[in-house]
Amino acid sequence: MSDPYINPDKLDAEVISAIITRLEERANHPKFQELYLPYIDNIVASKPTAVLEIGCGTGPIIRQLECKLTKHPTTYQTKTQIHACDISQQFLSQAQTLAAKDSCIQWQLYQPQQALPYDDEQFDWIIMHTLLGHLPDPCAMLEQASQLLKPDGKIIIFDTDFLSSTFAYHNVEKGRIIDYKLMTSIAQNPDICRKLPQYIEKTGLQIIENYSANLSEVGQGDFWLSSVHGLAKLITSLNILEENEAQDWLNYQLQAHKQGHFFASTNYYTFTLSHKNKGLN
Ligand SMILES: C[S@@+](CC[C@H](N)C(=O)[O-])C[C@H]1O[C@@H](n2cnc3c(N)ncnc32)[C@H](O)[C@@H]1O
Repeated sequence: MSDPYINPDKLDAEVISAIITRLEERANHPKFQELYLPYIDNIVASKPTAVLEIGCGTGPIIRQLECKLTKHPTTYQTKTQIHACDISQQFLSQAQTLAAKDSCIQWQLYQPQQALPYDDEQFDWIIMHTLLGHLPDPCAMLEQASQLLKPDGKIIIFDTDFLSSTFAYHNVEKGRIIDYKLMTSIAQNPDICRKLPQYIEKTGLQIIENYSANLSEVGQGDFWLSSVHGLAKLITSLNILEENEAQDWLNYQLQAHKQGHFFASTNYYTFTLSHKNKGLN
C-alpha cells in the first residue's frame, strides 16, 4: 500500500477531496490547535524576517502563522517574508483559494526529485508539519532544510507517532491489526517520531527542545470522528481493508460514537532543531 501523500495529484478526485477536508478540519480543531499553536507563538515572538513551510498542503498552518504575524505589532512592521511549498498543485490551488485576500504568502510548487527552490541560509524558521512521515528519505529533506536555514535559524518538526494511533474495537486483536494497517497505509514512515533522533544525528542539526502531547477522545468522537469519516473514503479507494472488514470497523466507530463509548487516541511530537552547537547560548 502506498502512502497517498507521495503523489497526491494522482489520487481520485473523491480521495483528494476527502484529504483536503480532513487536513482543514484537523488544523482548525481546537484540540489540535492546542498542540501546534505554542510553536507558532514562539515563531511570532522571535520577530522573524523569513519563514518557510515545506509540505504546506492546503496551507492551514502557514495561514495561521501569517494571521498571527500580521496581528503582532512589531512583526507587522518588519513584513516577514512567508514562503510555503508543496509537490501537489491541487493542494496549492486550494491553499491559494483559502488564503486571505491580502495574504502575502508566496506559494511554490516543486518536483520532489528537485532541490527546494530557495537560497541557502534564507530562513529564520522552517516548519515541517506532518511531512516527514510521508517522505521516502526524511534525512535528505532534513539536509536540504539545514542548508536553507540561517546560522541561528530553527526548524520545527511536528509529527504524528502513527504507531501510537488506536481506535477501540469489539475485537482487541483485530482492532490492533486494523490500527496498524490504517496507519502504515497513510504514512510510509509510521515510526518517524521514534527514528528522528537517529536521522537528526546524521545531519548537521541537533534537537534543542522536544515535547509530546496526547490527543484522545473518550465517549463521543469529534476530532477523531472527522478522521473516521476521512478514513472511510480512503479505506475503500486505497484497498486498505477488505470490504467486510472495513464496513464492520466503520459501523463500530459510528455506533460507538452514537452510544457514547467511542475511544481513539494518538501521540504527537514537536521537535525544535538548530544547527549543531548553535541556539543554546
Ligand atoms: C499530511 S500532509 C500535511 C500538510 C500540511 N502541512 C498540514 O499539516 O495540513 C503532507 C504534505 O506533504 C506533501 N509532500 C509529500 N511529499 C513531499 C515532498 N517531497 N516535498 C514537499 N512536500 C511533500 C504532500 O503533498 C502533503 O501536502
